[in-house]
Amino acid sequence: MGKKKAWGGRFDGGTDRFVEEFTASIPFDVLLYRQDIAGSIAHARMLGKQKIIPRAEAERIISALEAIRKEIEAGKMSFDMSDEDIHMAVEKRLIQKVGKSGGKLHTGRSRNDQVALDLRLYLRDEIDGILALAGKVKERILLRAGECLGVVMPGYTHVQRAQPVLFSHHLLAYHEMFTRDEERFRDARRRANVSPLGAGALAGTTFPLDRESVARELGMDGLCENSIDAVSDRDFVADFLFACAVAMMHLSRLTEEMVYWSSAEFGFISLPDKLCTGSSIMPQKKNPDVAELIRGKTGRAYGNLVNLLTLMKGLPLSYNRDMQEDKEPVFDSARTVKESLIGAALLLEGMTVNEERMRAACDDGFLTATDLADYLARKGVPFRKAHEITGRIVRFCEEGGKRLKDLGLKELRSFHAAIGEDVRDAISLSHSVRLRNTRGGTGPATVRRRLEELKKK
Ligand code: ARG
Repeated sequence: MGKKKAWGGRFDGGTDRFVEEFTASIPFDVLLYRQDIAGSIAHARMLGKQKIIPRAEAERIISALEAIRKEIEAGKMSFDMSDEDIHMAVEKRLIQKVGKSGGKLHTGRSRNDQVALDLRLYLRDEIDGILALAGKVKERILLRAGECLGVVMPGYTHVQRAQPVLFSHHLLAYHEMFTRDEERFRDARRRANVSPLGAGALAGTTFPLDRESVARELGMDGLCENSIDAVSDRDFVADFLFACAVAMMHLSRLTEEMVYWSSAEFGFISLPDKLCTGSSIMPQKKNPDVAELIRGKTGRAYGNLVNLLTLMKGLPLSYNRDMQEDKEPVFDSARTVKESLIGAALLLEGMTVNEERMRAACDDGFLTATDLADYLARKGVPFRKAHEITGRIVRFCEEGGKRLKDLGLKELRSFHAAIGEDVRDAISLSHSVRLRNTRGGTGPATVRRRLEELKKK
């Protein structure tokens, strides 16, 4: 049987050992210690100011809580399964330090509003960390995009060569995605950053709490307006996990491209040795594991989101112990996103861009066929007709093992009389890219302008 519990008053004897371990969250929620202590300090200060507990006792509680934080940071505090969770562990240590008056800290508070607060504060801190790392990735993208402005690569649809694009334009596509990811995280932060303290177990409390001052001290933007919602709601967690899942989805697309770009078949980029690992049997191997693992870890982020949604589905109001299961998905997704952002920044920084290989890949595969159709359309041929004529030209080339640029003017004119000497230029790679200056297009002038705009932001 386990030790006596803080809630042991109505219980006869101790808790079954299995039950104690099965119900404990201390092995993982210890990660919340900083937020838990910050919340308790704000609560204690308010209890003193409101004269709900004597001011001097509040002061002593606050100093002891600060000392406990230092103990935990120094690895000096030991945790026990019988502590159940971080809230109980901190309270137990507090009472050891200041004596019975430590038991006054929990006046007007329940672990239900306490844990909701801790998790909200934790998410806020993690989001700030994630935003800082995402900013680094975006900086890297801007740097590489700026260096590579002259590099043309095949753009793909269906993984088939489609049209030439600037490599910078391709990189900047990820910049746009990561900007939206940041917005999602900021949005999640805004909804998380309201205080549930004062909700008590579920119904509010009889003590004259000053909820506003606690929220203010904790840097929160508002208060949960319904005590039942305050202890039941975890949609702010779902917001965060969704933001993580989408960010990982984007990172997995970038890293997937890095994996095949760095293959011998593509050879578009090379990754530095220090970011790759070898094979235990094949001496020649250099594998892009970091990119692969970022791609692979996306599964965790999706799993964590589905985990939380499933956990919350159909849960009756208000608090249910099921909700203790909300924390590990959060910890795991936060760590996964942060590590993946660090890895992505390293890859972006370390990769060498092989301009010749990209250009060579543009030479095959009729990448400027659309430009030929556009050329005919500009000469007055209806685009549908121009498309068909160009299709026939491509078939003709394929049968003869030729590229578009290998065809002579006479050959081309046999398909349509509107084709003139100026077609040469029209189907050149540089021309194809240069002309695409619609807003958002791959034309160098447009890409350069967008790059400048993004740098200013
Ligand atoms: N460890 C619990 C959790 O993570 C804290 C809240 C417990 N509340 C309760 N009434 N048992 O959700």
